Order: sequence, then structure tokens, then C-alpha cells
Amino acid sequence: MASVCASVAVGDPCGLLLGNAGSRRWHQRASASDSSYGVPFGISLRPCTRPCSGPLPSLRSSSDKNVKRSTFFRGGGQEFAEEHRQSKRWIRPVVARTDNGSDTQKEGDDRGEHQSPEAREPEGKGQEQAGFVWKSNWYPVIPVQDLDESVPHPFEILGRKVVIWFDREFAQWRTFTDVCPHRLAPLSEGRIDENGCLQCCYHAWSFKGDGSCTRIPQARPDGPEIRAVSNTRATSFPTTIAQGILFIWPDEHGFELAEKTPPPITPQHDGPEWETVVTFRDVDYGWDTGMENLLDPSHVPVAHHMVNGGSLGKRDDAQPLSIEIKEFSQQGFNGPWGRVGGPPQFLEFEAPTRTTYVFSIGGQAMGTTTTYVTPTAPGGSRVLISNGRKAFAMKAMTSGPKWWQISPRWWDHQKMLNLLDGDESLLHGQERLLRESTNGQIEKWNQAFFMPCAADRFVSAFRQWLNRHGGKNVQWADGVDPSLPPLIKNKELLLDRYESHTKHCKVCSKALQNFRIARQALYILAAVLVGVAPLLQVWSHRIPLVVAAGISAFLAWRLGDWIQMFYYKGYDHARIP
Ligand code: FES
Ligand SMILES: [Fe+2]
Repeated sequence: MASVCASVAVGDPCGLLLGNAGSRRWHQRASASDSSYGVPFGISLRPCTRPCSGPLPSLRSSSDKNVKRSTFFRGGGQEFAEEHRQSKRWIRPVVARTDNGSDTQKEGDDRGEHQSPEAREPEGKGQEQAGFVWKSNWYPVIPVQDLDESVPHPFEILGRKVVIWFDREFAQWRTFTDVCPHRLAPLSEGRIDENGCLQCCYHAWSFKGDGSCTRIPQARPDGPEIRAVSNTRATSFPTTIAQGILFIWPDEHGFELAEKTPPPITPQHDGPEWETVVTFRDVDYGWDTGMENLLDPSHVPVAHHMVNGGSLGKRDDAQPLSIEIKEFSQQGFNGPWGRVGGPPQFLEFEAPTRTTYVFSIGGQAMGTTTTYVTPTAPGGSRVLISNGRKAFAMKAMTSGPKWWQISPRWWDHQKMLNLLDGDESLLHGQERLLRESTNGQIEKWNQAFFMPCAADRFVSAFRQWLNRHGGKNVQWADGVDPSLPPLIKNKELLLDRYESHTKHCKVCSKALQNFRIARQALYILAAVLVGVAPLLQVWSHRIPLVVAAGISAFLAWRLGDWIQMFYYKGYDHARIP
């Protein structure tokens, strides 16, 4: 299988800059800045000043995904480039060259634009070589520790409605189509019966983990209809768990291939010295919009200005970035990036769902942010964020199994939701405007976008990957209308947290319940204290009770804000100074 690799130098301002500036030459004379740059997403690192070293990522051009999954990178632009140049693993490497044939170009050099992977490979070539089948991939759904085993959970993937439930007999999570074979009631409305089977709520037919029907209460034991029990099956999908995340393979005929294909995990997170926190949210923008956003490091300090106390940066941190595309193939792309003149960090996109930012200090990977986008339906996705921390100080900041990791898990979830609030309000609109601007042909993105800066290079690479290898858009399940749902103008609906996270999350649901109980208890306590105080004979004895009642009422009132956080918090770009 042929693959393409594009190599351009760190700091090259022009390679992969397409947009509607594609016919012109754009050159950026950026200077290094000492100001810090917000690091996505939820990790702050001080930039290292020493040269980086260490093995670097390589997406192999093999179709063997086992080979690709061994990818591991932890810093060092020069080593990366050297390994890349010497690599013989690429079947048909194509190096983007400058006009004079060199494969490098310095920042500010005005010799001309690099040819992008798009330019080096004719349109449509990827389709011939690729045959990228969307349903033949693992898609992440949810951290398994956030799933309640006692009830079935509805989900949607590539436009197909499914139900995820825990099979007690085999202690495994299962995924079925969310349709009862009897009369099509949604199985997700059902329950787990006394035998641990999934029972439909309409007529109580029950199904085992392999999909077979175990019980039809309406069938007479001696009647011919009893044969229907053995002839009836629910449709099931491959389901697995890796790094604490539940993955679904949305092809009921794909069990064999799924078994041979490891899910898209973050290689670093397998190390024993790493701690990770994973959370998720359903968002009202589609897969391509979400993935484009994740591959755009320059938006972070702007769109997430002052989020979580400014840990992601502030608007003033926006500055020129250097981005390289090192390897580009059907399986994704990767490369170093960073502020101009600063130490490089690394980004990898593993198609179709995973992006991983690796943040290094002194050549050692210290933190990662993996973000997945799972296409649920047109105009909708599930986003999962998995933050990995290695250093003690960083791990101490988050929830975990160690005694010193006191941050509760629901708090980490809320911090991640704060982050996603900043994106959702703008991406929901941007997605529709791109489709309007291109008459629904998003493969013509370069006629709509204007991207003169190197900071957008990963975005260009992503859109090119989608055109060349991804079939130009998500392949939805048969019969799914690919048009977007209507625009949501109500911001409280758009940034709602209850429907998009809380009700699906065991940890946050429990925290919300506890806060409600605590608030009620505080109000009752305040009322009791106020009621008891007048009964005391001595005035001076009444005062402490009244003060305690006031404190209880105040705390109950403050808890209201915390409870509200599980429903809606909001983020208004115009009102954050
Ligand atoms: S529709 Fe499910 S049992 Fe009747
Ligand atoms: Fe949660």
C-alpha cells in the first residue's frame, strides 16, 4: 500500500498553507517571543531551554496496524527529522521540496511555498490506494469507570443507535443495536433482568451477551412459537476496553478484523509512571469540525482565554507558531510544533479519532493530552479527553488512586467541561458556515478558509487527509441523512452539561446527588436552629444558634452554584476580560 510522506523544516512558514491563499505566496517573518504559550489542554509546562532528545514518532506506511500502534514519541525535532530521513519503512516517500530542490527551508526564507502532500499526490489517488472504511475502526465511547453497570446506556455511532450494557455472566460490556427484534422498541429503555440479561421494556424479551434470546414470556412452553426463542437474536458489535476507555467497532460483521486491530490508545499512558484522567462530552458539532479544532494549537489561548484560572493561556499569548508535517499517510500524520524559536512539542493524529499532544521538558515526555472525537451523528460528536501526567507535581494536581491525589474525579470532569464550553459556542456556528460557503462540499474548504499563517498547518494537513484518504467526509451508516440539524441559538441548550455529560457519568451523577442532599440538610439545619433559638431563655445563648443558622443557610445557597455547575456554566467570549 503506497503512502506519502511530506517533510518540511521547522519554522517553514509556507508549506501546507493552502486556504484561498493557495495561489499566492505567503511568508511570515516571525520573531521568537519569550511569552509563554498556552498548552492544550489542561496541562501547563514551562518551556524547556535545553535541546530535546529521544525516540520520535513514526507512522509506518504498512497496513499492519500492529506496527503503527507501536508509535511512541517524546520529543526532539532533529532526531525526528534524522530518523525520518533515514527511514526505509516508507514504501513511497515523497518529500516536499523547495524550488531549489532542498527539503528544508528556514523561517522567513522567501524562496517559495512548499508543495504540500496535497500537491504531491493527485486528488483521488488516496481513494484508489486507501479504501478507508469508517466502520472498520475502533471508536472510543466513555471511560468505563463512569459507566453504571446496573442499567443499559444508549449511544449513537456513525448514525447508528446502539445500546451498551454490562453482561454479568461474562463480566463484559456489550454493544447491541438499540432495536428489539420483536417490535423495534429501543433496548436502551429496558433493564438488566434477574439473570443478568438485557430485557426489553415492551414485552420483556431477554437477550444474552452473545445476542441470543433467552426468554419470550408470551411463548407457550409446548407451543411451536417456543422455537422463536432460539431463532431470535439481537445484533451485537465488537466491544473492548483499553486504557480504561470503552471502544466500539461499529460493524456487526467485523469481529474478526476487530480482534486483530488494537484500539487507538496513547502509547505513553501504558507506562507505570503515568497517571491519566479521562472525561467526555457530547457536543453539537460534527467530527470534522471537532478534529480540525483539536489539530489547531493556535486557538487554545484565545478560545480558552482564562479558562480554569488561565491554565490554558490568555488571548495575549497568541503568537506565531512553527509547525512541521513529518509523516503523512492514510493512517494519519504527525510532526513537531511550537512557538517560533521555542522548543518543539509534538502532535500526532491517528485517523480517524485520536490526536495526542506530547509535552516534553528536557527531552522527556512529561505530559500528554489525547483527545478523541467519535462521530455520533451528522452535526454531533462525542469528545473524550485523556490527560496524562508523569511528574509527581503534575500528578498531584489531579484525581487518582494515590492518597495525595485528593482532587475528586468530578472536579476534573468539570474543569474539562469548562474547556469544552469555549469551543462549542463557536464551532457550532463555524461548521454551518463552512457548509454554506461550499454548498455543502466541505472538500472545497480551501475556497472558504483564508489561512496565511503557519499556525494553521495541521488544519491544512487534516483537511487534506480527509479529502485524500477519508473519502471527503464521514461515511455514515446506510440511510442516515448527512445534513446538519438546525442551528441552536439558545446558548444554555448549546452548552448544557446535564444532557451532554452529567446524566451519562456515574461520578458526576453521584456528586450531584450528594450536593443536593447536602443542600437540603443545610437548609433543614438552618430551619431547626432558627426554630430552637427562641425557646432558649438566655439571650446570649440564642446568638450562636442564629449565627450557625445563618452560616448553614449561606452554605446551602452557595451549594446551589455548585449544583448548577452540573447543568450549565456558560462561557461568553465577549465578557471575559
Ligand atoms: S418490542 Fe421488545 S419485547 Fe416486544
Ligand atoms: Fe463526570
